[in-house]
Amino acid sequence: MNLVVRPGHPLRGVISLPGDKSISHRAALLAAIAKGESRIGNFLRAGVTNPMLEALTCLGVAWKLENSTLIVQGNGLEGLKPASKPIECGNSATTVRLLAGVIAAAGLPAILDGSEQLRSRPMQRIVEPLEQMGVSIKSTQGCIPLTLGESCLPLHGITYRLPVASGQVKSCILLAGLSAENVVNLVEPAASRDHTERMLANMGVMINSATQQTDHGRLYLTVLQPQQPLSLSPLNTVLPGDISSAAFLIVAALITPDSQLLIKDVGINPTRRGLLDILIEMGADIRVQAKGNQAGEPVGNIFVSHSNLMGGRISGELVVRMIDEFPVFGVAAAYARSRSIVSQAKELRYKESDRIASLSAELVKLGVGLEEAADGFNVLGGGNIQGGQVDSHQDHRLAMALAVAGLAAQAPVTVQGAEIISESFPEFIQALKSLGADITATEAR
Ligand code: S3P
Repeated sequence: MNLVVRPGHPLRGVISLPGDKSISHRAALLAAIAKGESRIGNFLRAGVTNPMLEALTCLGVAWKLENSTLIVQGNGLEGLKPASKPIECGNSATTVRLLAGVIAAAGLPAILDGSEQLRSRPMQRIVEPLEQMGVSIKSTQGCIPLTLGESCLPLHGITYRLPVASGQVKSCILLAGLSAENVVNLVEPAASRDHTERMLANMGVMINSATQQTDHGRLYLTVLQPQQPLSLSPLNTVLPGDISSAAFLIVAALITPDSQLLIKDVGINPTRRGLLDILIEMGADIRVQAKGNQAGEPVGNIFVSHSNLMGGRISGELVVRMIDEFPVFGVAAAYARSRSIVSQAKELRYKESDRIASLSAELVKLGVGLEEAADGFNVLGGGNIQGGQVDSHQDHRLAMALAVAGLAAQAPVTVQGAEIISESFPEFIQALKSLGADITATEAR
């Protein structure tokens, strides 16, 4: 599918968004090992969450969807059954990494596989700590397929320093840690997203986070005190809108003259709102109105209007707090009046595409002045984005970012391979249209 975006239409209106992708994954998986029926409203139904739901079926867990409410019948960790075939995780690294933790905690054998794209993503980062906990697990040259054997329970506790801050790796270890005989201590160099910790705490698990100042900088600690037998209370909650989906609409409104949006009930967890913080620093007219908590997560309304942006600098902890937002940040930076610099962001090379290379290649096609670096990129800024044809690299966030770039370009932008958008935000095109954008999907020839 190609998307054709024609510039010159302000975005105006009020919108609510589907549930957060990361929180949807965790809610489905934790509900499956809770005891009783969970009801999860505003669950994200998309390409990346389907494999998680299918995996639950493979593990003998009953679930159904009533509109966007996911209902799961959990029978505890011990209620999981061994899968009779390899579990297909599609393009979803979150599914592989979180599922590996839970399957390890259940001590079950399994094979976790997925798409060609997923087969190129690094998995040794979970294999190493799981092995230290006594899990029988093998990767295929550091990637999927992952083969888990039957593991002896309880697993060992662990003190582990993550080389790179990662919500997925941390969650994998914490989930396996639910079956550990003693404490799990994790140390990160920056605060990765903490949705697993919040949800586990709400379900009755003893888990705490702290920071520690050292001579070499701040460290982020997570301590899980496992209790045997494990008994998680079921979830009865409505998930916040996905801030990573809101990001596209926010940048769209910022760069398109005369735009003014209200995005309602978005998750504004501090470990996820890095893009808002840097855009505000760059001069964006963004106002966040906190509304309270949903699913243990802070939620708010976001008001955003067209703004003249200055360039911004991103490195260190901020990289982690906006790790999924770099494609659309690149677009905001292209429309800013001065240079933006992204560094210490090598992790971007291990996402759905090598996002440093793919973003650079495609924005340059639209006339953006951009220099690629080993661990980031510099964007000259100044606007003047030309029209043209660009490619998604089969990366949902790159496809949406490029479509957003077209809203304020000098001529139409065509995004090839745009069907991949349905991986995380199937309503993207409809959402933009409802706010006034001129955007058309056509079959690729
Ligand atoms: C995620 C964590 C991030 C993010 C991914 C979802 C999660 O990955 O990029 O889209 O749900 O924990 P890393 O933790 O590997 O950086």
